[in-house]
Amino acid sequence: MDFLKAISVRESSYLKGTIEIQGSKNTVLPIIAATVLTDGISVIHNCPDIKDVEVMCELLQCLNIKTCYKDHVLSIDTRKAQYAMLPYELTGKLRSSVLMLGAMLGRWGRAEIGMPGGCTIGTRPIDIHLEGFSRMNVDICMKDHLLCCDSFYLQGCDFHLRYPSVGATENLLLAACGAKGRTILRGAAKEPEIIELCNYLQSIGVLIDGIGSDVLVIKGTKYLCCADYINVYDRIVAGTYLLMAAAIPSELLLTGIDDIHYIKNILKVCAQLGLNVIRFDRCLHVWSNGIVAPGKFATGIYPEFPTDLMPVLISVLLRAGGDSQVTETVFENRFSVVDELKKLDGKLYVKGNTVFIEKTDQLCGHTVKATDLRQGAALIVAGLMAFGYTTITDTSYIDRGYEDIVGDLNRVGAEITYI
Ligand code: EPZ
Repeated sequence: MDFLKAISVRESSYLKGTIEIQGSKNTVLPIIAATVLTDGISVIHNCPDIKDVEVMCELLQCLNIKTCYKDHVLSIDTRKAQYAMLPYELTGKLRSSVLMLGAMLGRWGRAEIGMPGGCTIGTRPIDIHLEGFSRMNVDICMKDHLLCCDSFYLQGCDFHLRYPSVGATENLLLAACGAKGRTILRGAAKEPEIIELCNYLQSIGVLIDGIGSDVLVIKGTKYLCCADYINVYDRIVAGTYLLMAAAIPSELLLTGIDDIHYIKNILKVCAQLGLNVIRFDRCLHVWSNGIVAPGKFATGIYPEFPTDLMPVLISVLLRAGGDSQVTETVFENRFSVVDELKKLDGKLYVKGNTVFIEKTDQLCGHTVKATDLRQGAALIVAGLMAFGYTTITDTSYIDRGYEDIVGDLNRVGAEITYI
Protein backbone atom coordinates (compact mmCIF):
# COMPACT_ATOMS: atom_id res chain seq x y z
CA MET A 1 0.00 0.00 0.00
CA ASP A 2 1.20 3.50 -0.77
CA PHE A 3 0.89 4.92 2.74
CA LEU A 4 2.48 8.19 1.65
CA LYS A 5 -0.66 9.25 -0.17
CA ALA A 6 -2.32 12.30 1.36
CA ILE A 7 -5.40 14.42 0.74
CA SER A 8 -5.78 18.15 1.23
CA VAL A 9 -9.28 19.46 1.89
CA ARG A 10 -10.52 22.99 2.44
CA GLU A 11 -13.46 24.19 4.51
CA SER A 12 -16.61 24.06 2.42
CA SER A 13 -19.50 26.48 2.78
CA TYR A 14 -21.88 24.80 0.33
CA LEU A 15 -22.05 21.52 -1.57
CA LYS A 16 -24.33 21.07 -4.55
CA GLY A 17 -24.60 18.36 -7.18
CA THR A 18 -25.02 14.67 -7.86
CA ILE A 19 -23.15 11.71 -6.40
CA GLU A 20 -23.58 8.23 -7.87
CA ILE A 21 -23.34 5.72 -5.04
CA GLN A 22 -20.90 2.89 -5.81
CA GLY A 23 -21.57 -0.84 -5.45
CA SER A 24 -21.25 -2.33 -1.98
CA LYS A 25 -17.83 -3.48 -0.81
CA ASN A 26 -19.00 -5.70 2.03
CA THR A 27 -21.61 -7.40 -0.17
CA VAL A 28 -19.40 -8.12 -3.12
CA LEU A 29 -16.40 -9.54 -1.21
CA PRO A 30 -18.26 -12.61 0.19
CA ILE A 31 -19.90 -13.14 -3.21
CA ILE A 32 -16.47 -13.15 -4.89
CA ALA A 33 -15.40 -15.79 -2.32
CA ALA A 34 -18.60 -17.77 -3.04
CA THR A 35 -17.73 -18.15 -6.73
CA VAL A 36 -15.02 -20.63 -5.61
CA LEU A 37 -17.89 -23.07 -4.98
CA THR A 38 -18.95 -22.91 -8.63
CA ASP A 39 -17.61 -24.37 -11.84
CA GLY A 40 -17.96 -22.03 -14.81
CA ILE A 41 -18.04 -18.30 -15.53
CA SER A 42 -19.79 -15.86 -13.18
CA VAL A 43 -20.33 -12.18 -13.89
CA ILE A 44 -20.72 -9.62 -11.11
CA HIS A 45 -22.19 -6.27 -12.13
CA ASN A 46 -21.81 -2.96 -10.24
CA CYS A 47 -18.60 -4.24 -8.64
CA PRO A 48 -16.76 -1.31 -7.03
CA ASP A 49 -13.29 -0.37 -8.29
CA ILE A 50 -11.54 -0.60 -4.93
CA LYS A 51 -8.36 -2.11 -3.47
CA ASP A 52 -10.14 -4.86 -1.51
CA VAL A 53 -11.76 -6.23 -4.68
CA GLU A 54 -8.35 -6.21 -6.38
CA VAL A 55 -6.78 -8.25 -3.56
CA MET A 56 -9.73 -10.67 -3.45
CA CYS A 57 -9.16 -11.31 -7.19
CA GLU A 58 -5.46 -11.94 -6.53
CA LEU A 59 -6.50 -14.58 -3.96
CA LEU A 60 -8.69 -16.27 -6.59
CA GLN A 61 -5.78 -16.19 -9.05
CA CYS A 62 -3.73 -18.25 -6.54
CA LEU A 63 -6.40 -20.95 -7.05
CA ASN A 64 -5.94 -20.80 -10.83
CA ILE A 65 -9.21 -18.88 -11.15
CA LYS A 66 -9.19 -16.27 -13.89
CA THR A 67 -10.65 -12.83 -13.22
CA CYS A 68 -11.28 -9.92 -15.55
CA TYR A 69 -12.42 -6.50 -14.34
CA LYS A 70 -13.67 -3.75 -16.64
CA ASP A 71 -16.13 -0.89 -16.21
CA HIS A 72 -17.49 -2.22 -12.90
CA VAL A 73 -18.09 -5.70 -14.31
CA LEU A 74 -16.09 -8.55 -12.80
CA SER A 75 -15.95 -11.89 -14.63
CA ILE A 76 -14.71 -14.92 -12.73
CA ASP A 77 -13.83 -18.16 -14.51
CA THR A 78 -13.53 -21.08 -12.09
CA ARG A 79 -13.42 -23.87 -14.71
CA LYS A 80 -9.74 -24.63 -14.08
CA ALA A 81 -9.77 -23.95 -10.32
CA GLN A 82 -7.10 -25.86 -8.43
CA TYR A 83 -6.54 -26.18 -4.73
CA ALA A 84 -3.61 -24.12 -3.39
CA MET A 85 -2.38 -22.53 -0.20
CA LEU A 86 -3.18 -18.79 0.16
CA PRO A 87 -0.14 -16.87 1.46
CA TYR A 88 -0.21 -14.32 4.27
CA GLU A 89 1.30 -11.71 1.89
CA LEU A 90 -2.19 -11.57 0.33
CA THR A 91 -4.56 -12.72 3.10
CA GLY A 92 -3.00 -10.18 5.48
CA LYS A 93 -4.15 -7.34 3.23
CA LEU A 94 -7.85 -7.66 3.99
CA ARG A 95 -10.34 -9.07 6.45
CA SER A 96 -12.51 -10.84 3.90
CA SER A 97 -9.66 -13.20 2.98
CA VAL A 98 -10.91 -15.25 5.95
CA LEU A 99 -14.00 -16.11 3.86
CA MET A 100 -11.78 -18.17 1.57
CA LEU A 101 -11.73 -20.72 4.41
CA GLY A 102 -15.46 -21.39 4.12
CA ALA A 103 -15.44 -21.30 0.33
CA MET A 104 -12.45 -23.66 0.01
CA LEU A 105 -13.84 -26.03 2.64
CA GLY A 106 -17.14 -26.05 0.72
CA ARG A 107 -15.37 -26.93 -2.53
CA TRP A 108 -12.37 -29.05 -1.51
CA GLY A 109 -12.99 -29.96 2.13
CA ARG A 110 -9.72 -28.28 3.09
CA ALA A 111 -8.03 -24.87 3.19
CA GLU A 112 -4.65 -23.48 4.21
CA ILE A 113 -4.53 -19.72 4.40
CA GLY A 114 -2.47 -17.01 6.07
CA MET A 115 -4.19 -15.04 8.83
CA PRO A 116 -6.64 -12.33 7.66
CA GLY A 117 -5.82 -8.63 7.96
CA GLY A 118 -8.23 -5.71 7.81
CA CYS A 119 -8.79 -2.47 9.67
CA THR A 120 -7.39 -2.27 13.20
CA ILE A 121 -10.63 -1.51 15.00
CA GLY A 122 -10.41 -4.10 17.77
CA THR A 123 -8.91 -7.53 18.37
CA ARG A 124 -11.20 -9.07 15.73
CA PRO A 125 -10.91 -12.74 16.75
CA ILE A 126 -12.22 -15.53 14.48
CA ASP A 127 -13.08 -17.97 17.25
CA ILE A 128 -16.77 -18.20 16.26
CA HIS A 129 -15.82 -19.02 12.65
CA LEU A 130 -13.50 -21.80 13.85
CA GLU A 131 -15.94 -23.15 16.45
CA GLY A 132 -18.55 -23.51 13.71
CA PHE A 133 -16.09 -25.24 11.37
CA SER A 134 -15.07 -27.73 14.04
CA ARG A 135 -18.75 -28.55 14.56
CA MET A 136 -18.81 -29.37 10.84
CA ASN A 137 -16.14 -31.98 11.40
CA VAL A 138 -13.17 -29.81 10.39
CA ASP A 139 -9.75 -30.31 12.01
CA ILE A 140 -8.06 -26.96 12.58
CA CYS A 141 -4.43 -26.19 13.38
CA MET A 142 -1.80 -23.47 12.95
CA LYS A 143 1.23 -24.53 10.91
CA ASP A 144 4.05 -22.18 9.84
CA HIS A 145 1.79 -19.15 10.46
CA LEU A 146 -0.90 -20.74 8.28
CA LEU A 147 -4.39 -21.56 9.42
CA CYS A 148 -5.00 -25.13 8.27
CA CYS A 149 -8.50 -26.58 8.04
CA ASP A 150 -9.08 -30.11 6.89
CA SER A 151 -12.19 -32.24 6.76
CA PHE A 152 -12.34 -35.78 5.51
CA TYR A 153 -16.13 -35.57 5.62
CA LEU A 154 -17.62 -32.07 5.86
CA GLN A 155 -20.81 -32.60 7.80
CA GLY A 156 -23.77 -30.24 8.24
CA CYS A 157 -24.42 -29.32 11.88
CA ASP A 158 -26.71 -27.41 14.23
CA PHE A 159 -24.64 -24.48 15.50
CA HIS A 160 -25.48 -21.52 17.70
CA LEU A 161 -23.35 -18.41 17.13
CA ARG A 162 -22.87 -16.82 20.54
CA TYR A 163 -22.59 -13.41 18.82
CA PRO A 164 -24.20 -12.60 15.43
CA SER A 165 -20.85 -12.09 13.71
CA VAL A 166 -21.23 -11.01 10.08
CA GLY A 167 -18.02 -12.71 8.93
CA ALA A 168 -18.66 -15.96 10.86
CA THR A 169 -22.20 -16.21 9.45
CA GLU A 170 -20.83 -15.71 5.91
CA ASN A 171 -18.00 -18.21 6.40
CA LEU A 172 -20.26 -20.91 7.82
CA LEU A 173 -22.82 -20.33 5.08
CA LEU A 174 -20.11 -20.88 2.46
CA ALA A 175 -18.83 -24.09 4.06
CA ALA A 176 -22.39 -25.37 4.60
CA CYS A 177 -22.99 -25.19 0.83
CA GLY A 178 -20.56 -28.09 0.33
CA ALA A 179 -21.37 -30.01 3.53
CA LYS A 180 -23.27 -33.29 3.66
CA GLY A 181 -26.82 -32.85 4.90
CA ARG A 182 -28.38 -29.85 6.57
CA THR A 183 -26.69 -27.04 8.51
CA ILE A 184 -28.66 -24.90 10.94
CA LEU A 185 -27.08 -21.59 11.97
CA ARG A 186 -28.83 -20.11 15.00
CA GLY A 187 -28.10 -16.59 16.20
CA ALA A 188 -26.91 -15.70 12.68
CA ALA A 189 -26.23 -12.10 11.59
CA LYS A 190 -29.09 -10.43 9.69
CA GLU A 191 -27.16 -7.64 7.96
CA PRO A 192 -28.13 -6.84 4.33
CA GLU A 193 -24.79 -8.38 3.26
CA ILE A 194 -25.97 -11.75 4.63
CA ILE A 195 -29.31 -11.49 2.81
CA GLU A 196 -27.52 -10.70 -0.46
CA LEU A 197 -25.10 -13.62 0.00
CA CYS A 198 -27.99 -16.00 0.72
CA ASN A 199 -29.84 -14.79 -2.38
CA TYR A 200 -26.72 -15.33 -4.47
CA LEU A 201 -26.16 -18.82 -3.02
CA GLN A 202 -29.77 -19.68 -3.81
CA SER A 203 -29.23 -18.54 -7.39
CA ILE A 204 -26.35 -21.03 -7.78
CA GLY A 205 -28.46 -23.90 -6.44
CA VAL A 206 -28.14 -23.94 -2.63
CA LEU A 207 -31.39 -24.31 -0.69
CA ILE A 208 -31.62 -21.84 2.21
CA ASP A 209 -34.55 -21.27 4.55
CA GLY A 210 -34.95 -18.36 6.95
CA ILE A 211 -33.22 -15.68 4.85
CA GLY A 212 -33.37 -12.37 6.73
CA SER A 213 -33.92 -14.09 10.09
CA ASP A 214 -31.39 -15.22 12.71
CA VAL A 215 -31.95 -18.92 11.96
CA LEU A 216 -30.62 -20.05 8.60
CA VAL A 217 -31.12 -23.60 7.37
CA ILE A 218 -28.80 -24.59 4.54
CA LYS A 219 -29.00 -27.76 2.47
CA GLY A 220 -25.55 -28.49 1.06
CA THR A 221 -24.94 -29.87 -2.43
CA LYS A 222 -21.91 -30.55 -4.60
CA TYR A 223 -23.73 -29.57 -7.79
CA LEU A 224 -23.67 -25.79 -7.98
CA CYS A 225 -24.13 -23.82 -11.16
CA CYS A 226 -22.88 -20.32 -12.00
CA ALA A 227 -25.02 -17.21 -11.86
CA ASP A 228 -24.65 -13.53 -12.60
CA TYR A 229 -25.10 -11.12 -9.73
CA ILE A 230 -26.04 -7.43 -9.72
CA ASN A 231 -24.41 -5.86 -6.69
CA VAL A 232 -26.42 -3.51 -4.45
CA TYR A 233 -25.32 0.04 -3.63
CA ASP A 234 -22.94 0.57 -0.73
CA ARG A 235 -25.05 1.56 2.27
CA ILE A 236 -22.01 2.81 4.20
CA VAL A 237 -20.80 5.04 1.38
CA ALA A 238 -24.36 6.37 0.99
CA GLY A 239 -24.46 6.94 4.77
CA THR A 240 -21.14 8.80 4.68
CA TYR A 241 -22.50 11.32 2.16
CA LEU A 242 -25.86 11.60 3.94
CA LEU A 243 -24.16 12.43 7.23
CA MET A 244 -21.83 14.88 5.48
CA ALA A 245 -24.85 16.62 3.92
CA ALA A 246 -26.33 17.09 7.39
CA ALA A 247 -23.22 18.92 8.62
CA ILE A 248 -22.43 21.13 5.62
CA PRO A 249 -24.99 23.41 3.96
CA SER A 250 -25.82 21.39 0.87
CA GLU A 251 -28.23 20.20 -1.74
CA LEU A 252 -27.29 16.80 -3.12
CA LEU A 253 -28.78 14.14 -5.32
CA LEU A 254 -27.59 10.65 -4.36
CA THR A 255 -28.27 8.21 -7.19
CA GLY A 256 -28.15 4.41 -7.46
CA ILE A 257 -30.13 3.87 -4.25
CA ASP A 258 -32.29 1.01 -5.50
CA ASP A 259 -33.68 -0.14 -2.16
CA ILE A 260 -34.12 2.34 0.67
CA HIS A 261 -34.85 -0.47 3.14
CA TYR A 262 -31.16 -1.14 3.86
CA ILE A 263 -30.53 2.44 5.03
CA LYS A 264 -33.69 3.14 7.02
CA ASN A 265 -31.75 3.27 10.28
CA ILE A 266 -29.22 5.69 8.79
CA LEU A 267 -31.93 7.97 7.38
CA LYS A 268 -33.60 8.05 10.80
CA VAL A 269 -30.42 9.36 12.43
CA CYS A 270 -29.85 11.87 9.60
CA ALA A 271 -33.41 13.21 10.04
CA GLN A 272 -32.71 13.59 13.77
CA LEU A 273 -29.58 15.60 12.93
CA GLY A 274 -31.63 17.93 10.70
CA LEU A 275 -31.19 16.57 7.17
CA ASN A 276 -34.15 16.84 4.78
CA VAL A 277 -34.65 13.86 2.48
CA ILE A 278 -37.03 13.19 -0.39
CA ARG A 279 -36.90 9.92 -2.24
CA PHE A 280 -37.86 9.44 -5.88
CA ASP A 281 -37.05 6.62 -8.32
CA ARG A 282 -33.58 5.34 -7.40
CA CYS A 283 -32.49 8.71 -5.94
CA LEU A 284 -32.39 10.60 -2.69
CA HIS A 285 -32.68 14.37 -2.86
CA VAL A 286 -31.15 15.69 0.38
CA TRP A 287 -30.53 19.19 1.67
CA SER A 288 -29.66 21.01 4.88
CA ASN A 289 -28.54 24.39 6.18
CA GLY A 290 -25.68 22.71 8.06
CA ILE A 291 -27.22 23.25 11.48
CA VAL A 292 -26.86 19.96 13.33
CA ALA A 293 -29.10 18.96 16.24
CA PRO A 294 -27.22 17.35 19.14
CA GLY A 295 -28.32 13.98 20.47
CA LYS A 296 -27.48 10.63 22.03
CA PHE A 297 -26.78 7.81 19.60
CA ALA A 298 -25.65 4.18 19.75
CA THR A 299 -24.36 1.75 17.16
CA GLY A 300 -25.62 -1.83 17.01
CA ILE A 301 -26.14 -4.88 14.90
CA TYR A 302 -28.55 -4.51 11.97
CA PRO A 303 -31.10 -2.91 11.88
CA GLU A 304 -29.47 -0.53 14.41
CA PHE A 305 -27.16 2.32 13.32
CA PRO A 306 -24.02 0.72 11.77
CA THR A 307 -20.71 0.80 13.60
CA ASP A 308 -18.98 1.61 10.28
CA LEU A 309 -20.59 5.07 10.30
CA MET A 310 -19.80 5.83 13.92
CA PRO A 311 -16.58 7.80 13.18
CA VAL A 312 -18.38 9.92 10.56
CA LEU A 313 -21.27 10.59 12.96
CA ILE A 314 -18.77 11.77 15.59
CA SER A 315 -17.21 14.25 13.13
CA VAL A 316 -20.65 15.58 12.18
CA LEU A 317 -21.73 16.03 15.80
CA LEU A 318 -18.84 18.49 16.32
CA ARG A 319 -21.05 20.87 14.33
CA ALA A 320 -23.97 20.46 16.76
CA GLY A 321 -25.22 23.35 18.83
CA GLY A 322 -24.95 21.34 22.08
CA ASP A 323 -23.39 18.28 23.67
CA SER A 324 -23.82 14.81 22.16
CA GLN A 325 -22.89 11.20 22.89
CA VAL A 326 -22.18 8.20 20.69
CA THR A 327 -21.94 4.71 22.22
CA GLU A 328 -20.18 1.95 20.28
CA THR A 329 -21.48 -1.55 20.99
CA VAL A 330 -19.90 -3.71 18.27
CA PHE A 331 -16.10 -3.22 18.37
CA GLU A 332 -14.11 -2.55 21.52
CA ASN A 333 -11.50 -0.23 20.04
CA ARG A 334 -12.87 1.90 17.26
CA PHE A 335 -12.23 5.40 18.60
CA SER A 336 -9.04 6.35 16.76
CA VAL A 337 -10.95 9.24 15.17
CA VAL A 338 -11.17 11.00 18.54
CA ASP A 339 -7.47 11.90 18.93
CA GLU A 340 -7.27 13.10 15.33
CA LEU A 341 -10.37 15.29 15.70
CA LYS A 342 -8.80 16.84 18.81
CA LYS A 343 -5.95 18.02 16.54
CA LEU A 344 -8.61 20.00 14.63
CA ASP A 345 -9.64 21.61 17.97
CA GLY A 346 -12.61 19.28 18.39
CA LYS A 347 -13.81 19.06 21.97
CA LEU A 348 -14.49 15.41 22.62
CA TYR A 349 -13.32 12.53 24.81
CA VAL A 350 -13.85 8.81 25.31
CA LYS A 351 -15.16 7.24 28.50
CA GLY A 352 -15.77 3.48 28.42
CA ASN A 353 -17.42 2.70 25.11
CA THR A 354 -18.96 6.17 24.73
CA VAL A 355 -17.62 9.26 23.00
CA PHE A 356 -18.74 12.53 24.57
CA ILE A 357 -18.80 15.39 22.07
CA GLU A 358 -18.98 18.92 23.43
CA LYS A 359 -20.17 21.98 21.60
CA THR A 360 -17.22 23.06 19.47
CA ASP A 361 -17.29 26.61 18.10
CA GLN A 362 -15.03 26.11 15.10
CA LEU A 363 -12.82 23.27 13.91
CA CYS A 364 -9.44 24.42 12.63
CA GLY A 365 -7.49 22.80 9.78
CA HIS A 366 -4.42 20.72 10.73
CA THR A 367 -2.57 17.57 9.63
CA VAL A 368 -4.30 14.36 10.72
CA LYS A 369 -3.68 10.69 10.04
CA ALA A 370 -6.01 8.07 8.59
CA THR A 371 -5.65 4.81 10.50
CA ASP A 372 -8.54 2.87 9.00
CA LEU A 373 -11.07 3.10 6.20
CA ARG A 374 -14.09 4.68 7.91
CA GLN A 375 -12.03 6.81 10.28
CA GLY A 376 -10.28 8.20 7.19
CA ALA A 377 -13.63 9.11 5.60
CA ALA A 378 -14.66 10.77 8.87
CA LEU A 379 -11.52 12.92 8.78
CA ILE A 380 -12.36 14.09 5.25
CA VAL A 381 -15.82 15.13 6.44
CA ALA A 382 -14.24 16.94 9.39
CA GLY A 383 -11.82 18.63 6.97
CA LEU A 384 -14.78 20.00 5.01
CA MET A 385 -16.04 21.52 8.26
CA ALA A 386 -12.71 22.90 9.54
CA PHE A 387 -11.45 26.45 8.98
CA GLY A 388 -8.68 26.63 6.36
CA TYR A 389 -6.98 23.53 5.01
CA THR A 390 -6.76 20.05 6.52
CA THR A 391 -4.25 17.46 5.35
CA ILE A 392 -5.12 13.81 5.83
CA THR A 393 -2.14 11.47 5.54
CA ASP A 394 -2.02 7.70 4.92
CA THR A 395 -5.17 7.86 2.83
CA SER A 396 -4.56 4.52 1.11
CA TYR A 397 -6.81 3.06 3.80
CA ILE A 398 -9.68 5.04 2.31
CA ASP A 399 -9.06 3.57 -1.17
CA ARG A 400 -9.89 0.15 0.24
CA GLY A 401 -13.57 1.01 0.37
CA TYR A 402 -14.33 4.34 -1.32
CA GLU A 403 -13.95 4.18 -5.06
CA ASP A 404 -13.43 7.89 -5.69
CA ILE A 405 -14.20 10.01 -2.64
CA VAL A 406 -12.02 12.87 -3.90
CA GLY A 407 -13.74 12.89 -7.31
CA ASP A 408 -17.22 12.59 -5.75
CA LEU A 409 -16.62 15.59 -3.49
CA ASN A 410 -14.95 17.67 -6.22
CA ARG A 411 -17.98 17.17 -8.41
CA VAL A 412 -20.25 18.68 -5.74
CA GLY A 413 -18.02 21.72 -5.29
CA ALA A 414 -15.61 20.73 -2.52
CA GLU A 415 -11.99 21.85 -2.74
CA ILE A 416 -10.25 18.53 -2.19
CA THR A 417 -7.20 17.06 -3.89
CA TYR A 418 -4.51 14.37 -3.60
CA ILE A 419 -1.14 15.85 -2.67
C1 EPZ B 1 -17.95 -6.93 9.05
O1 EPZ B 1 -16.75 -7.23 9.77
C2 EPZ B 1 -17.61 -5.76 8.15
N1 EPZ B 1 -16.50 -6.14 7.28
C3 EPZ B 1 -17.20 -4.57 9.00
O2 EPZ B 1 -16.98 -3.46 8.12
C4 EPZ B 1 -18.33 -4.22 9.95
O3 EPZ B 1 -17.90 -3.20 10.82
C5 EPZ B 1 -18.71 -5.45 10.78
O4 EPZ B 1 -19.02 -6.56 9.92
C6 EPZ B 1 -19.91 -5.21 11.69
O5 EPZ B 1 -20.99 -4.81 10.93
C7 EPZ B 1 -16.74 -6.81 6.16
O6 EPZ B 1 -17.86 -7.16 5.83
C8 EPZ B 1 -15.57 -7.10 5.30
P1 EPZ B 1 -18.12 -9.20 12.92
P2 EPZ B 1 -16.63 -8.60 10.59
O7 EPZ B 1 -17.54 -10.54 12.78
O8 EPZ B 1 -17.33 -9.67 9.86
C9 EPZ B 1 -16.65 -10.05 17.39
C10 EPZ B 1 -15.70 -1.80 7.05
O9 EPZ B 1 -15.29 -0.68 7.45
N2 EPZ B 1 -16.28 -11.41 16.91
O10 EPZ B 1 -19.60 -9.05 12.86
O11 EPZ B 1 -15.22 -8.77 10.91
C11 EPZ B 1 -15.70 -9.00 16.85
O12 EPZ B 1 -14.52 -8.93 17.62
C12 EPZ B 1 -15.61 -3.00 7.94
O13 EPZ B 1 -16.18 -1.95 5.92
C13 EPZ B 1 -15.85 -12.35 17.79
O14 EPZ B 1 -15.75 -12.14 19.00
O15 EPZ B 1 -17.46 -8.20 11.88
C14 EPZ B 1 -16.54 -7.74 16.91
O16 EPZ B 1 -16.47 -7.20 18.19
C15 EPZ B 1 -14.86 -2.76 9.20
N3 EPZ B 1 -15.49 -13.59 17.31
C16 EPZ B 1 -17.95 -8.26 16.65
O17 EPZ B 1 -17.90 -9.68 16.86
C17 EPZ B 1 -15.58 -13.90 15.99
O18 EPZ B 1 -15.26 -15.06 15.62
C18 EPZ B 1 -18.45 -7.99 15.25
O19 EPZ B 1 -17.59 -8.59 14.30
C19 EPZ B 1 -16.03 -12.93 15.10
C20 EPZ B 1 -16.37 -11.67 15.57
